[in-house]
Amino acid sequence: MPSKTLAIIDRARALVEEGVPVISLAAGESDFDTPSEIAEAGINAISEGYTRYTPNVGTIELRNAIRRKLEEENEISYTPDQIVVSNGAKQSILQGVMAVCSPGDEVIIPAPFWVSYPEIARLADATPVILPTRVSNDFLLDPMLLEASLTEKSRLLIICSPSNPTGSVYPKELLQEISRIVEKHPKLLVLSDETYEHIIYAPSTHTSFASLPGMWERTLTVNGLSKAFAMTGWRIGYISGPLHFISACAKIQSQFTSGASSIAQKAGVAALNLGHAGGETVANMVQAYRERRDFLVKSFGEIDGVKISIPQGAFHFFIDVSCFYGVEVDSFGTIDGSEALCRYLLDKARVALVPGEAFGDDNCIRISYAASLDTLHDGFARIKKALMLLRPAASI
Ligand SMILES: Cc1ncc(COP(=O)(O)O)c(C=O)c1O
Repeated sequence: MPSKTLAIIDRARALVEEGVPVISLAAGESDFDTPSEIAEAGINAISEGYTRYTPNVGTIELRNAIRRKLEEENEISYTPDQIVVSNGAKQSILQGVMAVCSPGDEVIIPAPFWVSYPEIARLADATPVILPTRVSNDFLLDPMLLEASLTEKSRLLIICSPSNPTGSVYPKELLQEISRIVEKHPKLLVLSDETYEHIIYAPSTHTSFASLPGMWERTLTVNGLSKAFAMTGWRIGYISGPLHFISACAKIQSQFTSGASSIAQKAGVAALNLGHAGGETVANMVQAYRERRDFLVKSFGEIDGVKISIPQGAFHFFIDVSCFYGVEVDSFGTIDGSEALCRYLLDKARVALVPGEAFGDDNCIRISYAASLDTLHDGFARIKKALMLLRPAASI
């Protein structure tokens, strides 16, 4: 992540510490607490003395629960030894990339991307190849661009659906089109990051890339409990795929962190037992996210010049605010990109957002709506007022 972005988040934190009422819409995690059924399973694990090392790859109880989930919800079959549980999906992705990539390999990453993908590729001595997408195309990868960008070095394509930061959901037909390209490149694998799978707004539906014809052998599926189950602090993620790669992930993990927390794994079993897609507990959270999304879409949709793509999943809104670039502000300077605009909004509106440059798209800013509707109303009013100051009086 570029340090300028971190600087904004640090500045927002410093202002809060000084007592300035900053509204932070920069978070990458749910504002809900972990559902009580899950938390209780964790508490029980402690009181029942379930506090020792587990197998490196995760308990058989949790891997079986994951196996069932993948079969029933995603139509992909794995044996428990084709699943490795890690300390969060981030670790699963890192190990997956390290297991697959050799130095010099290319990792294809559609932009806007989750900030860690390019850095993880670099950690594996691979080269990130960034493929831009357009807000007018709902930030979805253009298959023709993908095909034209593949080389002999292309080893891994990362697909994130629903996407952080854009909320885009890849329709099944588009994934099928991509799979036909993958089929033509035998060396190319796909890492399908399905972390936000359950936070999806009907009529959009989730398709697991590995469930497409011929793609099981070519796909590493990553998922986790952080987002849908409001369990970011519990640190449970997992990867599944062909044994060859999953065994390599297990080897890396065995010298790296060993198994995930025994307590969190017990809580993870309780989460996966809540019912299909997390049952009513998750459905209620998704309904709340949906209302917040609808509010933001309507509100920002009414600001002239702002370009939006309606998020179909996750809890972020990624809007193109480049119409405000180039404006000079007294005693501030020029708004010359997303970082300057976010700095301006923090100073003027006291709202913390993340600049799109961190996600590979400087035209945009990311607004997290993992916050109450009241907070979003207040945040939007402040943002709008500050943005209007950037407009010549005649155009307001
Ligand atoms: C797209 C995406 N993938 C993976 C992760 C990692 O989540 P965790 O390590 O908490 O499971 C995140 C977290 O922000 C994310 O946004």
